[in-house]
Amino acid sequence: MKVLVLGGAGYIGSHTVYSLIEKQHQVVIVDNLQTGFESLLHPEAVFYKGDIRDKEFLSNVFEKEHIDGVIHFAANSLVGVSMKEPLEYFDNNVYGTQILLEVMKEHNIKNIVFSSTAATYGDVKEMPIKEDTLTNPTNAYGETKLAMEKMMKWCDYAYGIKYVALRYFNACGAHPNGKIGELHNPETHLIPLVLQVPAGKREFISVFGDDYDTKDGTCIRDYIHVMDLADAHIKALEYLQKEQTSNIFNLGNGVGFSVLEIINAAQKVVGKEIKKEIVPRRSGDPARLIASNEKAKNVLGWDPEYTDIEKIIETAWNFHNKK
Ligand code: UFG
Repeated sequence: MKVLVLGGAGYIGSHTVYSLIEKQHQVVIVDNLQTGFESLLHPEAVFYKGDIRDKEFLSNVFEKEHIDGVIHFAANSLVGVSMKEPLEYFDNNVYGTQILLEVMKEHNIKNIVFSSTAATYGDVKEMPIKEDTLTNPTNAYGETKLAMEKMMKWCDYAYGIKYVALRYFNACGAHPNGKIGELHNPETHLIPLVLQVPAGKREFISVFGDDYDTKDGTCIRDYIHVMDLADAHIKALEYLQKEQTSNIFNLGNGVGFSVLEIINAAQKVVGKEIKKEIVPRRSGDPARLIASNEKAKNVLGWDPEYTDIEKIIETAWNFHNKK
């Protein structure tokens, strides 16, 4: 298959590109390098630098390359920034996806797999979260992803473009080859920030609140390894080609870890004490987010390999230590 990966220089996109190439697929990457990194580009992939909102540019890529399927990661993804600059998020995420769908329609491309998020659900009381749980995003980022899902639904109805939306929980870890891993600028995610302490780049990790209604008072999240996410994208593309049916799947391990448990696990992995400080809550953080992953397991045959949190952190540490 020749797969077009939009946002293939980003964290999850780059790992998916590596997995596609390992499985002998041809890969074409489009990325504007706004949040992506050249160092994450796979040397065997064809790379076009450009923006998905630039219709002429995107049409030219489709014209030149004969694409069999699309995987779409090209979006902004910081919850906090989306609350300050919602229009930026609607522009890049929603309008960008509209342009992409217009170009796909014009080139008669019928399959797309794309990054959605657990942030589409909002504050949910019942755990684990299933795909039919009511969606009520509490931040603009989640709202844009939900809008992207809805846009795809109507494009399926009208033009027969089939989609799979993958709602990720907390992506983490790095490729076991140590060459690529989680890179963000600025970094806001828990595991890379925790690892900055033993790496000597940060004095302590701030724990955002210890007064939540959880076992140790800190927030609980479902951490899913980026290689397992990459595998799910390939399985989703195969599913679309075989079944020709649109669908939505949660991608998580189905297990929750608190912030303190993550810090403890990281201490074991690196063999050093990691200093922490309890600070006030970060606004918009739900206490608990845990996925039901039964649907992805049953329908896609997805089976996450990295279920041990220490193994997950070890791959991240391996990458950050090599940098
Ligand atoms: N946290 C800290 N200190 C930090 C950073 C994070 O205590 O310095 C806490 C957060 O409050 C949260 C947990 O660690 O409770 C995880 O935080 P992240 O920022 O790593 O991840 P989020 O759960 O906020 O968000 C991630 C993605 C979103 C996605 C969401 C869905 O970044 O894009 O998961 O679960 F929507």
